[in-house]
Amino acid sequence: MRKKIVAGNWKMNLTLAQGEQLINDILQAGLKLEEGQEVVVATPFPYLLKAKSLLKNYPGFYVAAQNCYSEKSGAYTGEVSAEMLQSIGVDYVILGHSERREYFQESNAMLAKKIDQVLANGLKPIFCCGEPLAIRQAETQNDYVAKQLEESLYHLTVEQLKNVVIAYEPIWAIGTGLTASSAQAQDMHAFIRSQIANKFGREAALHTSILYGGSAKPGNAGELFGCADVDGGLIGGASLVAADFVAIIQKLS
Ligand code: 13P
Repeated sequence: MRKKIVAGNWKMNLTLAQGEQLINDILQAGLKLEEGQEVVVATPFPYLLKAKSLLKNYPGFYVAAQNCYSEKSGAYTGEVSAEMLQSIGVDYVILGHSERREYFQESNAMLAKKIDQVLANGLKPIFCCGEPLAIRQAETQNDYVAKQLEESLYHLTVEQLKNVVIAYEPIWAIGTGLTASSAQAQDMHAFIRSQIANKFGREAALHTSILYGGSAKPGNAGELFGCADVDGGLIGGASLVAADFVAIIQKLS
């Protein structure tokens, strides 16, 4: 019904040769993806073309950028547009990762514009949301995430929303070794789905893939992916180790 996705976010890691080796090692595992399952590799910009060509004969394997700019084109030195990404065959674009929000001051409003650029060019955003530790401790995470969804996604049409993947990444779980429990993940994913249903309708909500991210590993992925509203994962550290990434993908079924 809705796609099950494991996406590896390499962040700012690996050389081209190391990245090529990693993709080849993943492919060597001979994974048999089931209908509706997808694997996405989010490499740094300079490796996207290479990653796309390595994966081109592997159905179910896709390539993602980790960001793009909020404007269509023009005098924005150093930036990369959604149209450029589309022109080299990129499939997905991660938007709103907490590291971009924190280190590059990306606001919900700016992310709404990035989402528009990505969708206008026929690419699919993987929209990240999630609360910092202080918000979780204050038990106001639902309000916090609701606002992120509202300010970045609620201007979309139902048709547009169908191309959006959401990733819930509690900031306190990213790279910390501290994973959300499966109950915490399920609660938030169900909440996100209910928000989407309220705004876009039940049908759209049921078709929206919601991934979990934050210290997902082979040892906890099975339990997380077993939750009713968890449709896969956005994997950081463990996506840099072929055996771990493959083991996580295998937990999808
Ligand atoms: P880790 O899996 O390293 O915690 O990173 C998660 C993440 O930020 C994926 O985008």
